[in-house]
Amino acid sequence: MTTPDISIKLAGIPMKNPVMVASGTFGYGPEYAPLVDLAKLGALVVKGISPEPWRGNPTPRTVEVASGLINAIGLQNPGAEGFLRDYLPFLRKFDVPVIVNIWGRTIEGYAAVAARLSQAEGIAALELNVSCPNIKEGSKSFGSNADMFKRVVAATRAVTKLPLIPKLAPDVFRIGEFARIAEAEGADALAITNSVPAMAIDIETRRPKLANVTGGLSGPAIRPIAVRLVWEAAKAVKIPIIGIGGIYSAADALEFFIAGASAVAVGTANFLEPTTALTVADGLRDYLARHKLGSIHELVGTLAC
Ligand SMILES: Cc1cc2nc3c(=O)[nH]c(=O)nc-3n(C[C@H](O)[C@H](O)[C@H](O)COP(=O)(O)O)c2cc1C
Repeated sequence: MTTPDISIKLAGIPMKNPVMVASGTFGYGPEYAPLVDLAKLGALVVKGISPEPWRGNPTPRTVEVASGLINAIGLQNPGAEGFLRDYLPFLRKFDVPVIVNIWGRTIEGYAAVAARLSQAEGIAALELNVSCPNIKEGSKSFGSNADMFKRVVAATRAVTKLPLIPKLAPDVFRIGEFARIAEAEGADALAITNSVPAMAIDIETRRPKLANVTGGLSGPAIRPIAVRLVWEAAKAVKIPIIGIGGIYSAADALEFFIAGASAVAVGTANFLEPTTALTVADGLRDYLARHKLGSIHELVGTLAC
């Protein structure tokens, strides 16, 4: 049998394989370039960019817990101009789609950063991080309120022709509703999901382990949650889904494909083994060969139940 084909076209973007690296776990590229051949990644999603530079939260910002990591980095980043000046020229040297994760503190902020990045050459798509508070509207997160979510997707869609990939938050009651809103507002794909709100306490001092008190849980602990969210969303929409949450191996990634994802992204695992995305891609090929499947498409959404 010929080698199975794991190349995909997602939201119009050709990718050599369906395994990306997730925002915030792979820096902006240069940090990992000495360790991983960037051109072998399906796509590289950079850490969230806002209109202006942002300092993030005080330390400690991360804490390890059972089967995962809680982080409260607070979206530190160099801002749109800093990214375009200091990182995009480096990334352009590699034959890999660059997806820029964006966020704002207001709907206008999202539109501003999307519009600015859309003027640049070398960005394949924008991923919308909606797991951050709207400072104009009671600090509720954009991704947990259907009306605010609809407005932020619409406002961003209005200013860019780049493929738009809203990243759905895990802490919503009905993910299918958010998936449908994104699709109706012109999203090209969905990323599911972000880290799960969480906290950890030092019982001797009775103090929170993170300076920010709460943070986002990622890693294997959240994988079953993410798989369920992907499955629910895939039933609700036709646009492709990128499955994210605790993927450390090909076996982990395969659950997402079977649940309905067309691609996956590796996050926290990059901190332990920066080449995880590449070994996951190799493992997908082996699985397809073993199951006599010619392409990854033949596997997507094939859950038997
Ligand atoms: C340290 C850290 C920073 C992150 N920063 C971002 C970010 O800037 N934007 C974003 O949308 N998601 C961010 N994430 C979430 C990841 O992209 C991913 O959705 C989440 O960690 C779940 O996947 P994982 O369990 O494989 O890590 C971050 C995660 C971690 C651990």
